[in-house]
Amino acid sequence: MRGIVYTGNGVEVTDALEVRQPGPKEVRVQMAAAGVCHSDLSVIDGTIPFPAPAVLGHEGAGVVESVGSAVTSVRPGDHVVIATLASCGACRACSTGHPTWCRSSLGNISTPFTFKGEPASNFAAASVFAETTVVSEVQAVRIPKEVPLTSACLIACGVLTGVGAVLNRAKVRPGDTAAVFGVGGVGLNVIQGLRISGATRIVAVDTVAGKESLGRQFGATHFVDASAGDAAAAVRELTPANRESAAGALFPLGGVTWAFDCVGHPAVLRSALDCLDWGGTAVAIGIPPRGTEVSVDVNALAYVDRGLIGCRYGSSRPHHDIPLMVDLYLSGQLMLDELVSLTRPLELFSQVIDEMHAGRVARGVLVFD
Ligand SMILES: NC(=O)c1ccc[n+]([C@@H]2O[C@H](COP(=O)([O-])OP(=O)(O)OC[C@H]3O[C@@H](n4cnc5c(N)ncnc54)[C@H](O)[C@@H]3O)[C@@H](O)[C@H]2O)c1
Ligand SMILES: [Zn+2]
Ligand SMILES: [Zn+2]
Repeated sequence: MRGIVYTGNGVEVTDALEVRQPGPKEVRVQMAAAGVCHSDLSVIDGTIPFPAPAVLGHEGAGVVESVGSAVTSVRPGDHVVIATLASCGACRACSTGHPTWCRSSLGNISTPFTFKGEPASNFAAASVFAETTVVSEVQAVRIPKEVPLTSACLIACGVLTGVGAVLNRAKVRPGDTAAVFGVGGVGLNVIQGLRISGATRIVAVDTVAGKESLGRQFGATHFVDASAGDAAAAVRELTPANRESAAGALFPLGGVTWAFDCVGHPAVLRSALDCLDWGGTAVAIGIPPRGTEVSVDVNALAYVDRGLIGCRYGSSRPHHDIPLMVDLYLSGQLMLDELVSLTRPLELFSQVIDEMHAGRVARGVLVFD
């Protein structure tokens, strides 16, 4: 079958791929559509180290082809979004509603594929850049057939990650303000999560000026072109303090309640920290190379209740949050179709990458015929 394989030395669109039958608690899914997330590109360029060969793709939706003997929650023909968390369901993290903390959900690399006859691993426990994949039952979340699979696939990473960061991790309140650094597939979903939460001032920040109209379409109220100078200062100018105080000389008043780094660069995370109001929190979502550090003036945190937190996969609980995203979409509050800027067959993967690097897409989606 066809698929896209990270070879350790770049990427190959291949016909030389096979996947095994599902085990008792596994589901085999025929893929319909898969979004290209920056994390796939980060495997290819080495930012995210991953053993090769590996079948890429982790933002997919498809149709259940067959199920293992012990599977009860889905059956052949069901439409599913594939979550990347192969969580165990039995540990303390799972039992307290935090599957993103489940030890089984990270680094659980297995090799359900063969590539040119050799074992090939499953990136993000998903490997949705393949005509057919095999995942744990817990990862296959059924969705109504009325949601187009080309749109539904984006829920599997960009939407859960972005909207989840706002709803689950930050728990943004009406009247909060925010800056969103990086108006890509993840950042746009942070922006629409903020709109849904009632944030009143949403400043989108990107180095590509053309991202302004996309950002505003999803709910941004302002835009800062980060290539034009000090982005943190520009955000602060747009979110001035509504009162003056002598204490502002020590720690400037004004700025945003929340700043989301959806890029994954230490300078961006530092800007996110620098544009916070008193009591504000920066949320690290972007993934830089391993070992990347950021410096921060500790007093600027400790005196005024500022914080820095990380967020994996929108701190999501897929069996709660995927149906929630579907409901928000069907009720007209969550934009999914508008995220799909282009659809291409697997063979044109490099075209999607070029469009992403040029900043011309919200999301590029690979489709399977
Ligand atoms: N924490 C998680 O669970 C999680 C999940 C998914 C993706 N990610 C990470 O999130 C990041 C974003 O992913 P994506 O798919 O949205 O990427 P993307 O390529 O779709 O978008 C990135 C955006 O950032 C912009 N950008 C680049 N440099 C910038 C800068 N200095 N200042 C402002 N904007 C800048 C680009 O123009 C682009 O619009 C990646 O690092 C990805 O690996 C993390
Ligand atoms: Zn992703
Ligand atoms: Zn667990």
